[in-house]
Amino acid sequence: MDIAVVGAGSLGSLLGGLLAREHDVTLVGRDPHMRRVAAEGLRVAGVEQFRVTPAARTDVPDSADLAVVAVKSHDTAAVADQLAGCELGACLSVQNGMGNEATLAAALDCPVLAGTCTYGARLDEPGTVAFTGRGEVVLGPPAGGRSETAERVGAAFGGAGVETTVAADMPRRLWAKLAVNAAINAATALARVENGALADGPGAALAADAARETARVAREQGVDLADERAVELTRQVVRDTAANRSSMLQDVEAGRATEIDAINGYVVAAADEPVPVNETLTRLVRTRERAD
Ligand code: PAF
Repeated sequence: MDIAVVGAGSLGSLLGGLLAREHDVTLVGRDPHMRRVAAEGLRVAGVEQFRVTPAARTDVPDSADLAVVAVKSHDTAAVADQLAGCELGACLSVQNGMGNEATLAAALDCPVLAGTCTYGARLDEPGTVAFTGRGEVVLGPPAGGRSETAERVGAAFGGAGVETTVAADMPRRLWAKLAVNAAINAATALARVENGALADGPGAALAADAARETARVAREQGVDLADERAVELTRQVVRDTAANRSSMLQDVEAGRATEIDAINGYVVAAADEPVPVNETLTRLVRTRERAD
């Protein structure tokens, strides 16, 4: 399969590297990383070590069987515009936050799939991605159910050795992931702590409150996600990623825009009833962003 990975940061580079063992992959990202990959290939280090030679560029190619979108959620609209001029068979979002698939689907003629990804990656230096944790890609139609496209993309990922599940319940899975991100990302970014600091004490209580509020909003939207399921998933991710610095913490530390609008801000905007914890986290992160 001819696959363009748009957003070759840490996770995009790792997925692209794994897929390049089996498929024709083009990484689309920023220099100097893309320049180094084009010249010397991509080195994957850590859980597995190997070198692959995907194509690498800074703009989207003219065509691909599949575009895997891994950019930050605030760049989705711009990427959707670029991909609209590209001949695509299908598109898969593996991004954080909600609303990305709708933005892509509004601009593209091809089927758009939703995905979640729990693989861990870190971009150490141009040309090298650290594979920090084996996870799973779960993908399927964003509105739920099954599709031939989802099966085909799932088989292509599985064939490249990426742990993949093709799921018929993506709305529930996307809301569950949103609950985890709403619980962990803003709290760790504001308190400047690793995910493991939310394992007990006041951090755990704050994370659980944010997860419960998100589960309630999911149910308001007709998605079956129990409060305690959202809290348990959050606890599990905190345990599994205890040493991680969340993506939002990394954004805040680097003075970059965060994904707050697609995470806690999305919960606030979608809620029928007040969600004070998500609202406070959103306001605090937006205040931090304005100060940078
Ligand atoms: O955004 C992140 O950092 C990750 O999605 C997660 C699961 C919170 C782990 O750090």
